[in-house]
Amino acid sequence: MEPSLSTIGVVGAGQMGHGIAQVAAMSGFSVLLNDRDEQALSKAEDAIESSLEKLVQKERIDAELRDDALGRLSTTTDLKKFADADLVVEAIVENEAIKLDLFSRLDEIVKPEGILASNTSSISITRLAAATSRPEQFIGMHFMNPVPIMKLVEIIEGVATSEQTTETIEAATEKMGKTPVFSSDSPGFLVNRILMPMINEAIFAYHEGIGSIEDIDKAMKLGTNQPMGPLTLADFIGLDTCLSILEVLHDNIGDPKYRPCPLLRNYVDAGWLGRKAGRGFYDYD
Ligand code: CAA
Repeated sequence: MEPSLSTIGVVGAGQMGHGIAQVAAMSGFSVLLNDRDEQALSKAEDAIESSLEKLVQKERIDAELRDDALGRLSTTTDLKKFADADLVVEAIVENEAIKLDLFSRLDEIVKPEGILASNTSSISITRLAAATSRPEQFIGMHFMNPVPIMKLVEIIEGVATSEQTTETIEAATEKMGKTPVFSSDSPGFLVNRILMPMINEAIFAYHEGIGSIEDIDKAMKLGTNQPMGPLTLADFIGLDTCLSILEVLHDNIGDPKYRPCPLLRNYVDAGWLGRKAGRGFYDYD
């Protein structure tokens, strides 16, 4: 039987990190959420409280679970507090050099039997694992946004990931009420390999004047029963994140079909990063 986890550390208190921390705390794990920025941590605490409140109001959880989850969650700016974590999930910026640096630091801090996981949406798990001395205890654990609502977690083994690590992470995923799927360590894994070309094609369709932003979204929403049209979804994910995933697909697979639309690059250069920036394909002000 795989060993069970009790303490989970999450690095990065952004959209994904605080969602992962929330779901882990709701599922009975003791959770420590880290960010180097105090303000990001207090924003994350507010977001978690308001998400839990929403779930109580919708009667998806009761008030006792909300309070228990909040009681199991604490925050810190000090990575050294992760020394006793059974699992640390990284959810920082989608930048390989920054992740490599973080994982080599975590490798020195976290107890030798601890598992290190990355929530990367596209970067090679094998390459990240190689920055540590424990590649057999390293794995990809890719959650979807918004984490409290979306049921899927992609599990990605690196070349050296042990079977025991995978079994432990599969069990933890299920304990969090999520359904795992397994992807090999290939750029974009399963979801983004399929989703990002669709989003990119929607941006090309707008760029080439084939349809308006609203009609492209309406076409896919009403025509293919998606909860959000692809341009709304791109704004929701963040246009900078979409661009960096497309660049990983393009650079690593080498097929021109993954070339990011120039309009996407222009929007990112302009700081139009989507919903979080107040402006993307739509204006949120
Ligand atoms: N916490 C708690 N509850 C939340 C929530 C949160 N953070 N976000 C939404 N909800 C709840 C709402 O309260 C609502 O509950 P009820 O159904 O009980 O009323 C429900 O979720 C639906 O929300 P809304 O009514 O506000 O809006 P909606 O119907 O448009 O749903 C959505 C919002 C769930 C985000 C939906 O539009 C959707 O599923 N969109 C697609 C999301 C998606 O594709 N995500 C994956 C992106 S790809 C990714 O994440 C991977 C990557 O690497 C880029």
